[in-house]
Amino acid sequence: MTSPRTSRIPYPKDDDGARRLVYGADYNPEQWPREVWAEDIRLMRQAGVNLVSLAIFSWARLQPTEDTWDFGWLDEVMDLLHAGGIGVDLATATASPPPWLTAAHPEILPVTATGETLWPGARQHWRPTSPVFREHALRLVREMATRYADHPALVAWHVNNELGCHNVYDYSDDAAHAFRGWLRRRYTTLDALNHAWGTSFWSQRYSDWDQILPPRLAASHPNPTQQLDFKRFSSDALKDHLLAEREVLTEITPNTPVTSNFMVMSGIKGMNYADWAGAVDFVSNDHYTVLGPQNRDELSFCANLTSGIAGHRPWFLMEHSTNAVNWQPVNLPKKPGDLGRDSLLHVAHGADAVCFFQWRQSAAGAEKYHSAMVPHAGEDSELFRDVVALGHTLDVLAPLAGSEREPARVAILFDWDSWWASEQDSHPTSLLDYHREALDWYSALMRLGIRADVVPAQTTDLNPYDLVIAPVLHVVAQPLAKELTRYVEGGGHLVTTYFSAIVDENDHVWLGGYPGALRELLGIRIEEFGPLLDGDTVDLDNDTAGSLWTDRISVDATDVETLVHYRTGTYASRPAVTRRATGRGTAAYVSTRLGVDGLAALLPRLLAPSGVASDLPEAARGTVEHVVRRDSDSRYLFFVNRGDAPAPLPGLSGEVLIGPSAGDGFTLPPGGTAVLRQPNPQEPLPPADRSA
Ligand code: GAL
Repeated sequence: MTSPRTSRIPYPKDDDGARRLVYGADYNPEQWPREVWAEDIRLMRQAGVNLVSLAIFSWARLQPTEDTWDFGWLDEVMDLLHAGGIGVDLATATASPPPWLTAAHPEILPVTATGETLWPGARQHWRPTSPVFREHALRLVREMATRYADHPALVAWHVNNELGCHNVYDYSDDAAHAFRGWLRRRYTTLDALNHAWGTSFWSQRYSDWDQILPPRLAASHPNPTQQLDFKRFSSDALKDHLLAEREVLTEITPNTPVTSNFMVMSGIKGMNYADWAGAVDFVSNDHYTVLGPQNRDELSFCANLTSGIAGHRPWFLMEHSTNAVNWQPVNLPKKPGDLGRDSLLHVAHGADAVCFFQWRQSAAGAEKYHSAMVPHAGEDSELFRDVVALGHTLDVLAPLAGSEREPARVAILFDWDSWWASEQDSHPTSLLDYHREALDWYSALMRLGIRADVVPAQTTDLNPYDLVIAPVLHVVAQPLAKELTRYVEGGGHLVTTYFSAIVDENDHVWLGGYPGALRELLGIRIEEFGPLLDGDTVDLDNDTAGSLWTDRISVDATDVETLVHYRTGTYASRPAVTRRATGRGTAAYVSTRLGVDGLAALLPRLLAPSGVASDLPEAARGTVEHVVRRDSDSRYLFFVNRGDAPAPLPGLSGEVLIGPSAGDGFTLPPGGTAVLRQPNPQEPLPPADRSA
């Protein structure tokens, strides 16, 4: 199970039966008196809302005690929504267990690495591996599915909510028991586990499965492979919960698609979504922008990666915010225009749904200062007018519903195993930030106006790409090493960086000199790492500077070209960036952290052998983001001006769906978005032949 077989997004239809884009929000009517519900439907219709996610946090209302059910209010809301022409993505309501359940069964509460219980009082206080929780949750799912199976408002199921948002790592006895089961399935024998975990070190050898524990607070660094396996197990345990709920739903409503909202956004690291994609009928994502200089790029990067996880089929933006959130140290409002532009960037990257948390801003509770589609100020507000305007824009863009994101020529590989393993403790540096490394490459490519796909390393066919960038691809097992070698020999161009290809799937170092798994392909050998202190830099002879990391590189093969040398630092005059021409392709290595500026300066040389160039005019590069979607008839060209100055886009023709009219090109104002439709001249290209 890797990427979804097909995207079963429940598209709303217009009067002629044509697909529309989805527009909507989480809807929490139980927070409001009944009188407000009719008003909600009126405003939803005014805004063009055609779908809501319902009952996400309703368990305590739906099942007030273990033996009583109260579905009356939900029946009424479902009926009202249906009468209003609004579809329902109905939650299974299992996200937050009710007080009666935790009072009767405190053994479902998660436990931290230091042995503290996470008590009820907030939400998601359940152990992914608790059999007691599972039993109660599935009972609720069965009730929901049976009751609403034939309700005409039901268009999709929403399993739980953001699985793992607050409870990804649980160190309880239930977790210990399930972890042992997971390890038995992975290793079969204790000998294999002892080997994989390297337990000859520090007298850790296990003689019985029952001795094994999650990596609870220990006296010093816990075993690294135990830590890595616990991360893999924890992601799998949550996926297992998703599959268990799904099984009940598909038994009762086989024709209703099932989804669950992922969190591909910075700061969320625990769930290997590339591996989860096959568990849903369409991929959904929640994304919130966080403060920071690269936050525009980060939005694009995450939307792009979500598309990669979805196999470039359309996906569903299940949540983002109309304005400020409530969970950052300071919650800044969005700037004028951000709401529409951010939403359209997700659409550009393949989102066929634009939904928000939440419909009506709460008056009470922890999220009362979190924005919504209807703010505290009510319908007579700038924000609600923006919401209505966005609904109109999405109506205009209806023709692109169902189109796929057109693959770029460059791919950036993203890998959860490498993310988890490279940032573990007791490493050469604790300053490495895997997500930031990948994002920097993305930002640098954007600056040069080059489109790139961000794709999962394990599940993506590399053949269609002319250039593959693998930043900090730390874990490289033999099959991946072979695949990368085959790709290069067959004519592909690979760029990788420091701390890549260092360990195998067991977190064991490939011996004989780094980067062991790709040493031959790259034609280099590294004897020692040279991490740098925070703030320290080394100069390079292309007039840029490196930080964080350096390597002591010797060049092994005669066909290796040194593109850049260190000018200062411990490894002064040694190679800093190398490239080997091998087979029909090339393999390049970047040994220090260059940051966005340094990467943008280096990239033209790295791109040269692949022939990849920007398809944007010079003046628009770095400010305009360009993404393409296509179906069999049309290509949809998105241009988003993210800068402060007007961006000229000469020589463009096509039907303007939104944006300034295009005679022979146009100028895009700051913050502006244009979408052009052109005929698709050809069927999607077959993958390039890279069979070596
Ligand atoms: C998400 C969650 C929503 C809401 C939102 C606030 O993590 O699914 O229920 O809490 O964040 O930003």
